[in-house]
Amino acid sequence: MTEVEKVAEAVEAITLNGVEADDDFVDPWNVTSKSDTGIDYDKLIKRFGSSKIDDALIEKFEKVTGKPAHHFIRRGIFFSHRDLHNILNLKEQGKPFYLYTGRGPSSDSLHLGHLIPFIITKWLQETFDVPLVIQLTDDEKVLWKDLKIEDAIKMARENAKDIIAIGFDVNKTFIFNNLEFMGKCPAMYQNIIRIQRCVTFNQVKGIFGFGDSDIIGKIGFPAAQAAPALSSTFPFIFGDKKVPVLIPCAIDQDPYFRMTRDVAPRLGFPKCALIHSAFFPSLQGAKSKMSASEQNSTLSLTDTAKQIKNKINKYAFSGGRATVEEHRKLGGIPDVDVAYQLLKFFLEDDAKLEEIRVAYSKGELLTGEIKKLAIETITPIVEDHQTKRKAVTDEVLDQFMEIRQLKFGS
Ligand code: TRP
Repeated sequence: MTEVEKVAEAVEAITLNGVEADDDFVDPWNVTSKSDTGIDYDKLIKRFGSSKIDDALIEKFEKVTGKPAHHFIRRGIFFSHRDLHNILNLKEQGKPFYLYTGRGPSSDSLHLGHLIPFIITKWLQETFDVPLVIQLTDDEKVLWKDLKIEDAIKMARENAKDIIAIGFDVNKTFIFNNLEFMGKCPAMYQNIIRIQRCVTFNQVKGIFGFGDSDIIGKIGFPAAQAAPALSSTFPFIFGDKKVPVLIPCAIDQDPYFRMTRDVAPRLGFPKCALIHSAFFPSLQGAKSKMSASEQNSTLSLTDTAKQIKNKINKYAFSGGRATVEEHRKLGGIPDVDVAYQLLKFFLEDDAKLEEIRVAYSKGELLTGEIKKLAIETITPIVEDHQTKRKAVTDEVLDQFMEIRQLKFGS
């Protein structure tokens, strides 16, 4: 490495690890902000070097797909991207690409926030009619959490059922967990080794903040999350074609794919394209994201209607004022109000959402009332998910996880 490269790497280490002197910290394992409105996403785009999904891009998206963009895109929940233009051009030209997303299974059941990337992925799969691979990084969770291999595999399978319940098309979707798939598909391990040969310890230190006393499993793991972005990891789907990929993910996963984009061209593959989502707030507010390990800050997909109601009423951070008089006079603050944020993610009707925002800001709508609206919106979504989840048997799961050709495109 030249001196210049060394300096560039050191600078990257400082800026990418979020050690910058601002209030936000974002890496794949920790997300925190000191501000009530949460992460400053414009700053994050600058720091990560991605691009904003702006009105012009949304317009192009709608023109190419011939339908309105998903409300997650229209409302800036998916706010950042890399090379989305390329994917839209491929779509326009009728050329192939695929979708890749994933989840690290760290608890038996998912929470509402976990749904976000999968909801948009399902919509993209329908919109583009392309194959999708879903990676469950049970290996990652064994390395990062205090988890046994056997338990991580079980969680991966349980989580996969929740993912299937979102409504993916079995003909176009392959779901796999690393701890089992790699034993069945040598192509994946071979790609991991190809990737690992391209990345130095210095580079992963810079990108992920690893240190000298981190276990070696962590240091090698990023290659396992990168491998599915190379189509040759799935010879049974793509043969030996080098097919471009679009990866929907929360922005904290971007470090993995910055590394992947650096390596892919050196292995003769196109750089992966990405769309990044903002974080789903914890019930306590936008300073932290919803986390499965904090019961009182989380709306779990296994919660009953009663639990949802209690949790939102009791814990959802309010952007309302201290007294009703003050609230009527000054109005509430939707940007910090968790009930409003829940509506922004899950109430599809744009006109109704805007009506609620205006009424709340003017103080016409009270905290208890906006919470009630959030409860009425979330409860049927969770109940519907529970019904669909029950229908996902082990046989259905095995179909999604079977190594096979997919059927897509006309
Ligand atoms: N590391 C991710 C997590 O902990 C899981 C994951 C694997 C993923 N591959 C992905 C997420 C691709 C988004 C896109 O949740």
